[in-house]
Amino acid sequence: MDFKRSDFPQDFIFGAATAAYQIEGSSFGGAGSSHWDTFAATPGNVLRAEDGAIACDHYHHYEEDLDLLPAAGLGAYRFSTSWARVMPEGTGKPNQEGLDFYDRLVDAMLARNLSPYQTLYHWDMPSALADRGGWTNPDVAKWFADYAEVITNKIGDRVHSIATVNEPWCVAFLSHFLGIHAPGLRDIRAAARAMHHILLGHGTAMQRLREMGQNNIGIVLNFEHTIPADDSAGSARAADLHDQIINRWFIEAITKGRYPEDALAGFLPHMPKGWEEDLKLISKPIDFLGVNYYTRNLFAEDPTMPWPSMKLVEGPLPKTQMGWEIYPDGLHTVLTRMARDYVGDLPMFVTENGMSWDDQIENGAVYDPVRESYLDDHIQATLRALKDGANMKGYFCWSLLDNYEWALGYERRFGLVHVDFETQKRTPKASYHALKAALAR
Ligand code: NOJ
Repeated sequence: MDFKRSDFPQDFIFGAATAAYQIEGSSFGGAGSSHWDTFAATPGNVLRAEDGAIACDHYHHYEEDLDLLPAAGLGAYRFSTSWARVMPEGTGKPNQEGLDFYDRLVDAMLARNLSPYQTLYHWDMPSALADRGGWTNPDVAKWFADYAEVITNKIGDRVHSIATVNEPWCVAFLSHFLGIHAPGLRDIRAAARAMHHILLGHGTAMQRLREMGQNNIGIVLNFEHTIPADDSAGSARAADLHDQIINRWFIEAITKGRYPEDALAGFLPHMPKGWEEDLKLISKPIDFLGVNYYTRNLFAEDPTMPWPSMKLVEGPLPKTQMGWEIYPDGLHTVLTRMARDYVGDLPMFVTENGMSWDDQIENGAVYDPVRESYLDDHIQATLRALKDGANMKGYFCWSLLDNYEWALGYERRFGLVHVDFETQKRTPKASYHALKAALAR
């Protein structure tokens, strides 16, 4: 890699990220069922019907997994706590084993001088609450705040920061409109409600945590560099609408207390009662913004489809194993746009960035040069954004470990560290060693 640690300010933090359901093993430690367990158990939803029951067995391997971070020169760990592990029924009695696990986990981070960056919701909705409509039910905001309070009472004294929600677009649109993630709905009414309630959950939980005296609370949003597939007016319209739904809906509600016009026009007939009022709570100040960035996307109009009549068009750039174009400049554009149009001087982090590849172990090692340059180029794009005025405070690789890539199961490997899912053996890849060398310079 060409970047150097010394290119960045002293207080800029480098870390790696994971999420509970993708690594812990949901069958261990008294966790309740989540809608990912049931989604995966339904034929056709997940490649080879794989689930997170064992995953990386991080529940038992967390000490050795955390050792990997400081050994690479990383100073922070972004992790999520699982609602269904903390409260197996989603509400009511907490699971002591689950609380104790997160207690141990956070202490183990501190023992290694790692800053704990917690996320409260990284997609594992307790099944008992999914039965009651999950994010489509307005009561979800209060259920979520209750869970936030319980876990914060346990570990809030030691975490560096708390992100309420990871990637609300995925939680709401991908999961309730496109049907790709749990609960797998393709329903515009459910989607409109989820698009709003996920933000209401964010606002309600944040208010509860502030009342408890908790500091440093924010949210993690996913952004795509979105462009028209060609010069036509239709493609320009389609790209703009996608941009409103994925890139503007959430940040505009949070920082300006409103929804972007055309996106709102499409969802309006299906919005829950009182949504305008809720925007007051939703737009309370956050302490930081987490940006997840992977790729750019090209859009064209699809007049055969009802609103939002658009389709994704394959782009010409080299792609990762996900089929995602590699486009580091898009990260610079997203970060500088956020600073300019929405958050000003607010601290920002790249909370996820990385790529999957069909990594193989050969002679005990994994050679992954494409990932090396992917990470290097995106870290340098972050540095350029910082120099151009975005208040960048950190960068987290997705992911520390190969893990459960949701609907694509274990086949898509995003880790800096290879995981053999049969033996649970961890093998740092060449990109891990390259990152370590760059961080030492
Ligand atoms: C974003 C999500 O937060 C994470 O869970 C997922 O594995 C990565 N993107 C890669 O798709």
